[in-house]
Amino acid sequence: MKHYQNYSLLSHNTFGFSVSCSDFYQYEKKEELEQLYKEGIFQGNWLPIGDGSNLLIKNDLNYPVIQSDIKTIEIIEETEKKCLVKAGAGVVWDEFVQWTISHQLGGVENLSLIPGRVGASPVQNIGAYGVEAKDVIRRVEVYDTKENIFKTLEGTDCAFEYRGSVFKKEKQLIVVSVTYELTKAPYYELKLDYGNVREVLQGLDTISLQDVRNAIVDIRMSKLPLPSEIGSAGSFFKNPVVSKAEFERLQRSYPTIPFYEVADGYKIPAAWLISQCGWKGKNIGAAGVYEKQPLILVNRGGAKGEDLLFLMKQIQLSVKDQFAIQLHPEVCLIQ
Ligand code: EPU
Repeated sequence: MKHYQNYSLLSHNTFGFSVSCSDFYQYEKKEELEQLYKEGIFQGNWLPIGDGSNLLIKNDLNYPVIQSDIKTIEIIEETEKKCLVKAGAGVVWDEFVQWTISHQLGGVENLSLIPGRVGASPVQNIGAYGVEAKDVIRRVEVYDTKENIFKTLEGTDCAFEYRGSVFKKEKQLIVVSVTYELTKAPYYELKLDYGNVREVLQGLDTISLQDVRNAIVDIRMSKLPLPSEIGSAGSFFKNPVVSKAEFERLQRSYPTIPFYEVADGYKIPAAWLISQCGWKGKNIGAAGVYEKQPLILVNRGGAKGEDLLFLMKQIQLSVKDQFAIQLHPEVCLIQ
């Protein structure tokens, strides 16, 4: 296990904030978590981190940050059609997606290029282009930092919801590995019906997993900032869900309002609400609203966590004033 003190988190948060932590532990074997337990690390505050791609860290942290560096990927069970693949929490998510494609396994190709690591995929229930991690997660192995034991949860026990799960609430659990159920060629079904995915693939006679990956990568690159170039944490807000009555009220005032019907109401793209309020491409100091996708707040260079939080609050106020809708951050705020 690696241990660093007074450690800079600059390269561990995709907003690119210059913050630090008192201690940084990087473990390569899951048993090392028991060692941290014995040292009393889990008695106070601590923060598990993947690649810091969904975090807004406001200040220096006077407590430990813990990162998995378990990078194994193994096939643990196979049938004619399916394959169970177990990946360590420290595997870079997009490298995992590439691995599945090179093994001709379908299921996560639409989640190409999402920043972060495997460990965050169940926590956030990451999703894009019509697929969510919950669709393929079969089991999640966790370490319980209160009880000092390892546990395995079935996918059905993870309380997955839109960008959330039991792991967002039960903060004592650290994800150690995730087992995905993937589908072998030629049995997988491609999901091409979100946005312009099918359009980007037009002209191909047969569509491979790699073709879908390439299309998703192209779409993402055209809309989303690369964390290596512009600091951001992907979508900053969740898309709000409103009731039928509320939706009808909105539609009367805004007949062109985009929406998706979901189980508990109508999901309205926050990007649209933010654009309508005139925020697209705007900045307050070094904190900005990305011009190509206004759901993404960016660090134009030298912004601090508090600058992003100020911008967040101004956007929330505008959307509340104009639409009577409360936007909630999707990014985890570490204050
Ligand atoms: N829109 C605008 N103006 C814009 C961009 C979008 O009005 O400039 C509206 C349009 O109506 C568009 C709609 O927003 O149809 C949806 O836009 P998009 O398909 O880009 O997706 P999103 O709802 O804004 C969600 C996820 C993204 C994910 C995309 C694609 C959330 C919070 N975000 O964004 O996830 O990549 O769908 O599936 O659900 C992330 O979680 O960090 C993330 C990037």
